[in-house]
Amino acid sequence: MSVLDLARPEILALQAYSSARREAAQAAVMLNANEAPWPPSGNLPETRALSLNRYPEPQPQALIERLAELYGVGSSHVLVTRGSDEAIDLLLRAFCRPGVDAIALSPPTFGMYAVCAAVQGAERIEVALDAQFGLDVQALCESLPASVKLVFLCSPNNPTGACVPLVDIERIAYALRGRALVIVDEAYIEFADLPSASGLIAHHTNLGVLRTLSKAWALAGARIGCLLAGTEIIALLRKILAPYPLSTPSVAAALAALTAAGMSLTRQRIALTIAERERMAIALKRLPAVLDVLPSRANFLCVQFEDASRAYRTLLSGGVVVRDVSRQPALGGCLRLSIGTREENSRLLELLIRGEAAA
Ligand SMILES: Cc1ncc(COP(=O)(O)O)c(C=O)c1O
Repeated sequence: MSVLDLARPEILALQAYSSARREAAQAAVMLNANEAPWPPSGNLPETRALSLNRYPEPQPQALIERLAELYGVGSSHVLVTRGSDEAIDLLLRAFCRPGVDAIALSPPTFGMYAVCAAVQGAERIEVALDAQFGLDVQALCESLPASVKLVFLCSPNNPTGACVPLVDIERIAYALRGRALVIVDEAYIEFADLPSASGLIAHHTNLGVLRTLSKAWALAGARIGCLLAGTEIIALLRKILAPYPLSTPSVAAALAALTAAGMSLTRQRIALTIAERERMAIALKRLPAVLDVLPSRANFLCVQFEDASRAYRTLLSGGVVVRDVSRQPALGGCLRLSIGTREENSRLLELLIRGEAAA
């Protein structure tokens, strides 16, 4: 059985749009895409070399090769997308028939899996995390209905911060072979100091891994993410990708970040973020208003407060905004605090300490 048997038949049958740039990427005279032949007016010095009057490569080869090298996979296993958000949406659209198919997810987790499922009209099967925020591996392996086509595993999980061990990922992928595609979202894996599941995609055709340059690589504004998966899945999703999803300046910014110098700086910043995360976890646990700090392997901490809305207001009135996750299942009283610079983190701590003193 091919993993494509899981895909929507109408997408398999679809004749993809063939963009002009795909048909002929370079020629001395470019008259095939109804572009302007001159640079844009107000051409900024920083973008002058980028030929912004031309449509970009739909899947820029240089970036694909760089990402493939970075993630240790072959270049035919990489689909570059507008953030990993777009890859989640593409997967839903390619694999879930509205009103028929479903996804499985383990709340509390990243909200976009549910949003993309709702937009596509796919049902949501929830297999909640256990009391320690661990995955219910057995339930995912043994009790999903046949309608489930995609299983999202978030590792490290947003917003709880825990990782799914590779043995569990492999067990789930093996149990669901021929039945569902398992997608491991590794948006924060750089902060976990653990191996990626990307090494498993060669052994499991029903496994895909989401990566992004938005977090550790400090490029959230460029919107560059990717899906690593078997070549059949990559080719299928390319059929439904927008004709020119990646803007030229974003691709240039990504390539600049992925040079040797960029990588060295990123490694230093990851180490700094991890050190700050550990410092903050210890300091927060000492505050009387803090009931719990979940162990995190990401660039954030999920913190349970005695009174989360009070802590939220204290921080906001001091100019610090954090994420209220208290309405998510099992996260009553919790706020998610991103790890910023040392100064930003210290400011957050001071505000909480002062807020306690004033109470
Ligand atoms: C777990 C997870 N996956 C994916 C994303 C989306 O990231 P992006 O679209 O910026 O790559 C986020 C963003 O916060 C996230 O937390």
